[in-house]
Amino acid sequence: MTHDPASLLDHAERVAATAHAPYSSFRVGAVAVSADGSLFTGCNVENAAYGASVCAEVNAITTAVANGVAQIDTIAVVCLDGVSCTPCGNCRQVMREFGVKRILLRDSDGAPVECTLTDLLPHSFGPDSLPPTSLPESS
Ligand code: THU
Repeated sequence: MTHDPASLLDHAERVAATAHAPYSSFRVGAVAVSADGSLFTGCNVENAAYGASVCAEVNAITTAVANGVAQIDTIAVVCLDGVSCTPCGNCRQVMREFGVKRILLRDSDGAPVECTLTDLLPHSFGPDSLPPTSLPESS
């Protein structure tokens, strides 16, 4: 199943409206697309203990994983309250773990922007950077 960038970004925008962001007032939504085209959504969920807050992208990706997805093809990310939203470093690293190939964002005019994880996280460290014996067992 394929999903066009504009509709994935529209979906992420709707998810952003569900964010729990009383501390930053910066609402973010994300839609992760698995290899078979299934969609998994996430918004940022903040906490009074700020460090316990979770980003939208991580929530989308961990929800996909909890549904049995090991590889994520694409993630669309939209913020409602800023000029544009580009994933933070921690989110880029979480994307790396699950093989995200394509990241969909909007530019400051709202037009779709497509980039690769290599664009966002060059020279990255990932599962294949570890010795084979250290890789998690696939069961
Ligand atoms: N945020 C995300 O959800 N994703 C990002 O990639 C950048 C930042 C959230 C975290 C926090 O709730 C708010 O945006 C302001 O940093």
